Amino acid sequence: MNRTMADTETRAGAGSDQLIFFVNGKKIVERNADPEMTLLTYLRRKLGLTGTKLGCAEGGCGACTVMLSRYQTHTQKLHHYAVNACLAPLCSLHLVAVTTVEGIGSVARKLHPVQERIARSHGSQCGFCTPGIVMSMYALLRNNPTPKMADVEQAFQGNLCRCTGYRPILEGYKTLTVEGGCCGGRGRENGCCMTNGNGEEKNSEEETDESTSLFNTADFAPYDPTQEVIFPPELMSLTKGQRSASLRFKGDRATWLQPDSLDEFLHLKWKHPEARVVVGNTEVGIEVKFKNMVYPVILAPAFIPELNAVTHTEDGVVFGAACTLSHMGEVLQRAVETLPPHQTEVFLAILEQLRWFAGLQIRNVAAVGGNIMTASPISDLNPVFMAAGCKLTLMDKDGARVVQMDDGFFTGYRKTILRPQEILLSIEIPYSQKTQFVSAFKQSPRREDDISIVTAAMNVTFAPGTDVVEDLRLSYGGMAATTILAKKTANRLRGRHWGEELLQEACSSLAEEVTLDPSAPGGMVMYRRTLTLSLFYKFYLTVLQKLRKQDMTVEEVGSDCLSAAELFHPETPSSVQIYQAVPEGGAQGDVLGRPIMHLSALKQATGEAVYCDDVPLYENELYLALVTSSKAHAHILSIDATEAESMPGVVCCVFADDIPGSNATGPVEYDETILATGQVCFCLSDRSGKTLRFMPRFTIFPSFLQVTCVGHIIGAVVANTQLHAQRAAKAVRIQYEELQPVITIQEAISAQSFYQPIRTIQRGDLEVGFKQADHILEGEMHIGGQEHFYLETNVTLAVPREDGEMELFVSTQSASKSQVLVAKALGVPANRVVVRVKRMGGGFGGKETRTTVLSTVVAVAANKLKRPVRCMLDRDEDMLVTGGRHPFYGKYKVGFLNSGKVVALDVSYYSNAGNSMDLSLSVMERALFHMENSYSVANVRGRGFLCRTNLTSNTAFRGFGGPQGMMVAENWMTDVAQSLGKCAEEVRRLNLYVQGESTPYNQVLEQFTLDRCWDECLTRSGYQQRRADIDLYNRQNRWTKRGLAIVPTKFGISFTAVFLNQAGALVHIYTDGSVLLTHGGTEMGQGLHTKMVQVASRVLGIPFSKIHISETSTNTVPNTSPTAASASSDLNGAAVQNACEILVKRLEPYKTKNPKGSWEDWVKAAYFNRVNLSANGFYKTPDLGYDFETNSGRAFNYFTYGVACSEVEIDCLTGAHKNLSTTIVMDVGHSLNPAIDIGQVEGGFMQGLGLFTLEELHYSPRGVLLTRGPGSYKIPAFGDIPTKLTVSLLRDAPNDKAIFASKAVGEPPLFLAASIFYAIKDAIVAARLESGINGPFRLDSPASAERIRNACSDRFTKLCPPAEPSTFIPWSVQV
Ligand SMILES: Cc1cc2nc3c(=O)[nH]c(=O)nc-3n(C[C@H](O)[C@H](O)[C@H](O)COP(=O)(O)OP(=O)(O)OC[C@H]3O[C@@H](n4cnc5c(N)ncnc54)[C@H](O)[C@@H]3O)c2cc1C
Ligand code: FES
Ligand code: FES
Repeated sequence: MNRTMADTETRAGAGSDQLIFFVNGKKIVERNADPEMTLLTYLRRKLGLTGTKLGCAEGGCGACTVMLSRYQTHTQKLHHYAVNACLAPLCSLHLVAVTTVEGIGSVARKLHPVQERIARSHGSQCGFCTPGIVMSMYALLRNNPTPKMADVEQAFQGNLCRCTGYRPILEGYKTLTVEGGCCGGRGRENGCCMTNGNGEEKNSEEETDESTSLFNTADFAPYDPTQEVIFPPELMSLTKGQRSASLRFKGDRATWLQPDSLDEFLHLKWKHPEARVVVGNTEVGIEVKFKNMVYPVILAPAFIPELNAVTHTEDGVVFGAACTLSHMGEVLQRAVETLPPHQTEVFLAILEQLRWFAGLQIRNVAAVGGNIMTASPISDLNPVFMAAGCKLTLMDKDGARVVQMDDGFFTGYRKTILRPQEILLSIEIPYSQKTQFVSAFKQSPRREDDISIVTAAMNVTFAPGTDVVEDLRLSYGGMAATTILAKKTANRLRGRHWGEELLQEACSSLAEEVTLDPSAPGGMVMYRRTLTLSLFYKFYLTVLQKLRKQDMTVEEVGSDCLSAAELFHPETPSSVQIYQAVPEGGAQGDVLGRPIMHLSALKQATGEAVYCDDVPLYENELYLALVTSSKAHAHILSIDATEAESMPGVVCCVFADDIPGSNATGPVEYDETILATGQVCFCLSDRSGKTLRFMPRFTIFPSFLQVTCVGHIIGAVVANTQLHAQRAAKAVRIQYEELQPVITIQEAISAQSFYQPIRTIQRGDLEVGFKQADHILEGEMHIGGQEHFYLETNVTLAVPREDGEMELFVSTQSASKSQVLVAKALGVPANRVVVRVKRMGGGFGGKETRTTVLSTVVAVAANKLKRPVRCMLDRDEDMLVTGGRHPFYGKYKVGFLNSGKVVALDVSYYSNAGNSMDLSLSVMERALFHMENSYSVANVRGRGFLCRTNLTSNTAFRGFGGPQGMMVAENWMTDVAQSLGKCAEEVRRLNLYVQGESTPYNQVLEQFTLDRCWDECLTRSGYQQRRADIDLYNRQNRWTKRGLAIVPTKFGISFTAVFLNQAGALVHIYTDGSVLLTHGGTEMGQGLHTKMVQVASRVLGIPFSKIHISETSTNTVPNTSPTAASASSDLNGAAVQNACEILVKRLEPYKTKNPKGSWEDWVKAAYFNRVNLSANGFYKTPDLGYDFETNSGRAFNYFTYGVACSEVEIDCLTGAHKNLSTTIVMDVGHSLNPAIDIGQVEGGFMQGLGLFTLEELHYSPRGVLLTRGPGSYKIPAFGDIPTKLTVSLLRDAPNDKAIFASKAVGEPPLFLAASIFYAIKDAIVAARLESGINGPFRLDSPASAERIRNACSDRFTKLCPPAEPSTFIPWSVQV
């Protein structure tokens, strides 16, 4: 029945306020739905369903993935789709069924196969990403119970994991795909192709005790799609029986209006022209969360039929503006499969863009209209729509108008010609014609789920039967404030033949027309300009090929240029893991050396594992939000908290004078403040504006007088909820007097701004060495910093108790450091503070010391209010205030012989330490200890300078300076080889240490296995054949080049601060025989607890199921060292062994007396005989103590060795690269647990791959961090795994220096990713040779697409020269 306009007008905006939806089968009726609340907050805070995690709040990590199901009345089908709960507005869920990880299975009830398989295949380390990945897989299976691997890879485009390196997740889920169906995982003689990736045959007899299987698919419960949870029948009948009804929800600041018809929508828009239309909320959600936007009226038209309609017309396909991108993709794909190819050129171009558009969770909700109307200059679809000449239908209550999507549509940055009362109704995407060719391109830092640097679409129409251009549209995104058309160039090329002359004209014209200001936001100006030409060249080649296919006489595309026109389509990765299986026949239940699963993996996969922020809310708990500096270097003139204190829910503000103890803090030096103090005029006002206190202060450290970085913590606001606290924190007004900051290493060098001491390691005689050298070469390299990006950000919950006690739940690697610094802040002895750590969602060094910047503030607030206070940092805050890996700059002079043998090295390292010392000195020391990597250099000097800058203090990060130290070494090694024209592999091998040689710090290399690793890696990778194949490939291809590199690592194991090399353990045996084990290490996903239980199980001689670890806490094992330096298994393992041996000794008499008795019998007998069944274990590493003054004493207990060989392919035109293959051979001694160790190797390698090829932190020249979340900071994703990955643990390599002959493994493999960097450099060499450029060249890390492209100097780069540096202020600087 049609309602009249008058009806609609009166009704507009009146609607039901009843939100009905289901969560895990339970009906929920919400009358007070807050339009600004996300589904994630509702699940976690209101329903206590904490399995769904918060990793970023911006749709970029997938930790919050849930499945939504809706019955579609028009198709009469159930629609299941994965979404990001962090962006899904609660109010959008009317008549939707939500399934969370808790809804599909549990350890207690029954595991769902997707939960079980990720756990048993070792795909869950810290587990924080696991529920999201589980739900992505679950949603895929609900739609397609027999997926292909390609479907799985697509389903994971929106999920990130920082620990595993992704390989085991794919392996586990491969068993649910059609490709995984081989032998059913039962295993054949040579292992199963499900576990070794390709079923490769083993090739030698002596390898028979090698295992390639880390899990057994026979253990998996079968997957039966018929057993899935059903869609709630009540919801089905509610949906079917529903007469359309409009909805209205009113919150504090916003009203949500969901119209039920187009008429009502148009009237509401007419009534509220300022209203924000929301469909997928993937853009608006970001604006509200991160850009402080408030939209008082929200219009939600997602379910209006006309906006979802798809109509096939004579000219093309018309999509309603609310059609999701996933739906659009499906429709276009069907059209491509059914229509004649010439009609679908535009559709194919759109599909190509959609392939790399966000992740599936976003595409499932984001609307095509949302993409157009956001009017983003880097939209991926708008260039195609514009180049294709799509038509848009705009509408208001008085009627519709149709406009062509051209450059007139976008009127400015994020502006269009839409009038305030208008809405976008639909878009018509045209069919292409027989003589028309269309292509689309997207270049982004990471291929998967990333926004564009430059995006382009090109559309040419030829006069029939000719190669003469009739019409041409070249559209670019990322080159101006809007999507643009290069009209001048197009006009010039009309009427021209498609040939070399046209190409030249096009390039010079584009270089002139599509320009960028050198200061343009986003930076990379030269690269972006070059891309406009390179992409046109790709289009040119593609069209040439298509014209030839139509029998036109056009220039032939040389076979060497064909690969330039190929589109990148990923290959499913395959992998092999090889380790030495422990012989059968050990004691029953002894699992040492076996690949047992991480003990928490199943709980992690079901969402039952409790992380810090999952601890249920205390009744009187409050939430804290930080107030931080927006200036890098400034005096604080005043702080005005008036507005903040009067905001809803706010309880109080916390500033420096609320600290009862000492404000001076820091892990090594007390050179930081907990909360900044301002000496000049610290003025706090009350609500009436009256000044409460002025506090000229005297402090001994000059750095206390001012803020010294953006993100410096100044104060905090405590409120009843997170939202209220965060809103109020933004309302605290701070006045600064800005001072000149020092931001970059180069600025620090100019200003001589260094922390002391400047460390030196020197051996031999440099002068003699350089005299002896046939050649001397100088060079330099910058290595960018790295954000830890643990999926779980920093969290602290502080609970005040009696007698000044404070109990803290902290996500920290260093419980004792947190305890001591909190006690110092509160002015109480350490015995009043208990810090408890159950588990962390990743740490990687980032939670070693910097957690205290948060936990001290939270403890001060809890102490002030005598109420529990919690804070989990948002991702952007975490990135801002906690620092990361130190950026390094290395400068070297190297002397070498004609043979390539290096005889002298003088190297200086400069690290960007930031605004406090933190661990920077130790990090630099480790860099110096690794300055020669694995090469013997007789005469050497290394110096390390710590730059004091106005950046957030940098800190520990897996490898701890070692990777930076070794990276510079590999750079001079590459330079030496290049300058001699020798193969880098030969020069490296020539310089490798041999057994018994000593390092520059005079440590003799014993039990040296690096040469074995090297040789095995050469063999397993087929190095020589590969080299030949690559050389051939490079001769045959002009615009894509391949590169190969083999790189060793030698990583020193021990804390360089000797006193930290100690550990304690506490073991209780209870009278029922169960064992409670506690040790000083923390569990952050690396499997430490699992290994410790394996150790205890071996020593006690009992099955590991009898042993339990509950948590790490300062009241069980005191004075613990941080879980860091890769040494935690060594140290804590030995302490556990010590405690268990004491207990074994105590039980010995009872065992002797009753040899046939059971463990329980002996325990009981001992108990009744009043034997102490609790023991404390302790261990300290012997013979350590290096002295920098005398260059003597042992720095390390031993070394972990490894070698990696990688092959890559670069696209010289775009700078993109593919990781084709990596072979790793790693000596981890006798592995305690091969699954965990291989997990560390792969995870560490992938983190290194991020460090050296992908991850870039951008800072403005004023020190503002510009990359503060997964949207702008890219860690490796599923698609970045090398297509072929082989990891082999070196066999027969026992280590007599650590527990049960094992070796440390956490940090060493990270550096092996340098093999990818140097393979890229090798490929660039081949590209440069094409332009006649030879010899060493500088390539800084990471080898980003921009750096690769710029280094491949050619005819296109020459047309886009860089601007003179002194003539402009760049958008970002290299820090
Ligand atoms: C993690 C992530 C990854 C992303 N990746 C990409 C990417 O790879 N490429 C890319 O181009 N974009 C990307 N985006 C941006 C975004 O997802 C897209 O622009 C998306 O299409 C927006 O659709 P939506 O329905 O979610 O928009 P919403 O957030 O709901 O709305 C966006 C804007 O469009 C307006 N609007 C929506 N519908 C209408 C209508 N019918 N009439 C008038 N105005 C309307 C709204 O008022 C609002 O201003 C990404 C976003 C996220 C969060
Ligand atoms: S928390 Fe939702 S995607 Fe990261
Ligand atoms: S296991 Fe994936 S983030 Fe830790």
